[in-house]
Amino acid sequence: MIRTLAISGLAAASLFGGAGAANAQSGELVFYCAADEGICRLLSESFQRETGINVLMTRKSSGETYAQLKAEEGQPRGDVWWGGTGDPHLQAAQEGLTSVYQSPMLEELQDWAVRQAETADYRTVGVYAGALGFGYNADLIDPASPDAPKCWADLLNEAYRDEIQVANPNSSGTAYTLLATLVQIMGEDEAFEYLAALDDNISQYTSSGSAPIRAAGTGESSIGIVFMHDAVAQAVQGSPIQTVAPCEGTGYEVGSMSLIEGGPNPENARIFYDWVLTPEAQELGAQANSFQVPSNVNAQTPPESPNLDEIELIDYDFALYGSSDERARLLARWDSEIGAR
Ligand code: F6P
Repeated sequence: MIRTLAISGLAAASLFGGAGAANAQSGELVFYCAADEGICRLLSESFQRETGINVLMTRKSSGETYAQLKAEEGQPRGDVWWGGTGDPHLQAAQEGLTSVYQSPMLEELQDWAVRQAETADYRTVGVYAGALGFGYNADLIDPASPDAPKCWADLLNEAYRDEIQVANPNSSGTAYTLLATLVQIMGEDEAFEYLAALDDNISQYTSSGSAPIRAAGTGESSIGIVFMHDAVAQAVQGSPIQTVAPCEGTGYEVGSMSLIEGGPNPENARIFYDWVLTPEAQELGAQANSFQVPSNVNAQTPPESPNLDEIELIDYDFALYGSSDERARLLARWDSEIGAR
């Protein structure tokens, strides 16, 4: 309890500035960020300003960050991995690439964020949630038309030949969430049949999960399969994007954070970990057009965020689809049946 209060006090003092200089820390934090560049930069700058700790940030997609931890196993260079979908964080936890930490902030978190921590024996924790869906360019597809896409099944319409983008599930957590979601909704063989048919309409498998909706926003393609909050972000920034929660139901992410086992600055990593779970840090998301639902119960959810209570969400099996064997097996099947087409 004493430790809890001490750490909370430090996080609060540094956040609210007054005692900031007195509490200034030293040294560095090597920060692997797997969300969008804007929020990665804002978190880095804010934390550095609050604490005096010099942040060295690298942004990559979720699967790429997992691969980097794997490649650096035994000689880790990073301290903390924030953001990106939860499945590769769970895989890293299972493989001992990340370390156990029970933050005093856990008691302020939503049940789904704590469940994520429990699933990984406290080697990860939920930082935000968001539902998968798609968005389309309303200048290219009329939302009032009865043919406007509303369901996963509608994306197979041959009118969308080469008009859809989605990421590659090896690099992108978004695309892996799609793969695991379809398997859970349809059954595995049926999901791969669907993905093979969808492939006829895919113009490009991007490496980043949110790139497809930026392409739809500029009219380079018509439809992007992405997290719904990423479609909303494009609309908020003025692109003619219509956001869709697929009629068959959909999966969701528990975006996560993990401390990297054996990282060079473990103490600074824990300071960041506690700080980034505070309501004030989580509310920075909206400033960077990041409209996920924050995991701290006291953080305000941005009004633009898709309302998860109004979306038909599946009971996504994070333990199974975040396990090393299952994720590796599904990705290998995707490579041979879809990627190699
Ligand atoms: O930052 C936007 C976001 O959609 C997050 O909600 C998500 O965790 C992450 O990007 C996934 O990115 P990627 O698919 O590139 O791994």
